[in-house]
Amino acid sequence: MEVQDKVVIITGASMGIGAATARVFAEAGAKLVLAARSADKLAAVAHSLPSQAETLIVPTDVTDPAQVRALIDQAYERFGQIDILINNAGRAVAGWIATVDPDHYRQIIELNMLGPLHGIQAVVPKMKEQGGGVIINISSNVSKMAIPGIGTYASTKYALNGLSLTARNELAADNIRVVLFHPGMTATDFGKNAVFEENMGNWRPDGGQPMPPPDSAEDVARKILEAAISEPAETGMPM
Ligand SMILES: NC(=O)c1ccc[n+]([C@@H]2O[C@H](COP(=O)([O-])OP(=O)(O)OC[C@H]3O[C@@H](n4cnc5c(N)ncnc54)[C@H](OP(=O)(O)O)[C@@H]3O)[C@@H](O)[C@H]2O)c1
Repeated sequence: MEVQDKVVIITGASMGIGAATARVFAEAGAKLVLAARSADKLAAVAHSLPSQAETLIVPTDVTDPAQVRALIDQAYERFGQIDILINNAGRAVAGWIATVDPDHYRQIIELNMLGPLHGIQAVVPKMKEQGGGVIINISSNVSKMAIPGIGTYASTKYALNGLSLTARNELAADNIRVVLFHPGMTATDFGKNAVFEENMGNWRPDGGQPMPPPDSAEDVARKILEAAISEPAETGMPM
């Protein structure tokens, strides 16, 4: 799908990959709907976009299905269509499987798994009505790995993979393409925003091994734009 003049909703748009994705899609001529919990940060992102970009800000907690429905409704009322939904909001927990706080796990299940589900369930009726659309779910390269210390986080993305690939099959007949996108390690505040269990010691996600430098959020955003245009079942940054 070409993105010029298309209406694109991005969750987790207040910083990091979501904010960079807003900038890249705005430069490509999209109309944007920016969602996250922090209204002030969303306003700052909107302010940083090219001046011609039509932008709507809808402060939203994606773990609340009523707020996600309100996000989709407000986007539809403002623009009369929703072409692309990017389910990007997410958070990690760093903790050992044997001791991780189940409540912390529950919180990222609500955010990383049920957040995208709420988005899909709210947007699909509108996309069916208008004859199609694209839904991009932001997963992670760690959803293909078993890295000690992030098993709970990775497992939420494993589950998102299954939901996304199945939804693609279920929604194909309605001309709705679900795309699964995997960033790799990306230079954002994602690590800082993660919940750390107290007993992690000097744990690091790279296990202390030398790692290639992280991708920039802008490089990841440009790949997400490519994915929106080519609509593959699954793509992302190199492992
Ligand atoms: N950075 C990486 O290395 C990396 C690697 C692979 C995959 N990813 C995935 O890429 C996505 C974006 O990550 P990032 O690096 O950009 O992280 P980030 O910089 O921490 O940004 C996370 C975004 O999610 C939003 N968010 C958190 N909880 C929310 C909620 N309950 N409702 C609505 N929005 C919420 C945050 O905004 P508010 O706090 O304002 O709500 C923020 O905009 C995530 O799904 C992450 O799992 C990241």
